[in-house]
Amino acid sequence: MSRLDDCYNVFDLRDAAKRRLPKGVFEFVDRSTEDEVALRNNRAGFERIKLRHRSLVDVSGRATKTTLFGKEISMPMAIAPTGAAGLCWHEGELELAKAAAKARIPFTLATGAMTSMEKIANEANFRLWFQLYVWKQRDLSYQLIERAKNNGFEALIVTTDTIVPPNREYNARNGFNIPFKPNLRFTLDIMRHPEWFLNVLVKYMTTIGMPRNENYPEPYRRALRQDPKMYEVMRQDNLNWEDVAIFRDKWPGILMLKGINRVDDALKAISYGVDGIIVSNHGGRNMDSAAATIDMLPEIAQAVGDKITVLLDSGVRRGSDIAKAVALGAKCVLTGRATLYGTAVGGEAGAAKAVGFIRSELDKTMAYTGCNSIEELTTDIFFGDRERNSMVGA
Ligand SMILES: Cc1cc2nc3c(=O)[nH]c(=O)nc-3n(C[C@H](O)[C@H](O)[C@H](O)COP(=O)(O)O)c2cc1C
Repeated sequence: MSRLDDCYNVFDLRDAAKRRLPKGVFEFVDRSTEDEVALRNNRAGFERIKLRHRSLVDVSGRATKTTLFGKEISMPMAIAPTGAAGLCWHEGELELAKAAAKARIPFTLATGAMTSMEKIANEANFRLWFQLYVWKQRDLSYQLIERAKNNGFEALIVTTDTIVPPNREYNARNGFNIPFKPNLRFTLDIMRHPEWFLNVLVKYMTTIGMPRNENYPEPYRRALRQDPKMYEVMRQDNLNWEDVAIFRDKWPGILMLKGINRVDDALKAISYGVDGIIVSNHGGRNMDSAAATIDMLPEIAQAVGDKITVLLDSGVRRGSDIAKAVALGAKCVLTGRATLYGTAVGGEAGAAKAVGFIRSELDKTMAYTGCNSIEELTTDIFFGDRERNSMVGA
């Protein structure tokens, strides 16, 4: 029996991923920053919201499909950009993208991915989004935008919440940092996980050499390793709204900003012609005092109305989380870790399993709350103070 057969939800996939991956890789995926308060709050925010069961409604015709930016997707979920899928599984991004395409949900490729845009576009093309980190040398970012355009990517997502490197102290302890600076502990860790070593690292080494950030522009497309010069090149702490105006000019497709967590920023995004905002605290990985995204969502969604499409990520592990986010105004959620755990356990099959669990849980939540369509998920399904029961302390 494969490891996947023993998994019944995303948390089981997490446990299986923990066993399969070297500790350094697992913690890079699973953990967050500093004291991991934001990580816990993201989950607590969802768990705090209680729903009401609606009885005696015929829900036999229910469907999880919905429309996002004018096109149908099979459920209000997309894959978030993660720079680590290619370390969880050989060409993990491609596996994840294939699972997303088959499930008919959008896939986001990260700037830091280990699989190229060209390969993803050729082999897993459903709805492809490209996530951009904006580097100090803006021309390098503009090159990436051009490449994404030429490869038919539908959307550009500019990440706005990672302008300085976060404190992820465990990575340093584990000797696991990107770029790589392996220490003795990390080497021993890899030796204790021979299956991962053979099926991931050796596969890269016998084909392309050490894994590389395949989407970095030349001359920076090199093996993941420590290079002090890179920090200066990749520095992004001068990112500002003028950049957004330039991106809007350069990108004719759907433009989204990721990490917009305040009403005033959301309103500003509208005035800059942005199509979508992703309420996100990067899965709690950057600022540890960040509020839970599900707590920030209602006031943002209410303030922007239909003027911009609101999406949300950070903490989604169950289908009921999607129902709650949709009820509070998100058109779609993105999953980072949930689908990465699946990828780490079984490549495409594992990612598909994660999506399947979440879809089935969403379907059941819709049935229990008496909803036949995604559009019927409103705060009416909530128990208690409906608008505000996700707020801190409520
Ligand atoms: C291992 C890992 C790598 C990530 N890499 C990126 C990245 O390169 N760019 C980005 O915008 N977000 C990145 N993120 C953040 C995700 O896009 C997303 O915001 C977050 O994972 C959502 O929280 P969740 O993991 O609880 O679903 C990463 C997240 C993880 C877990």
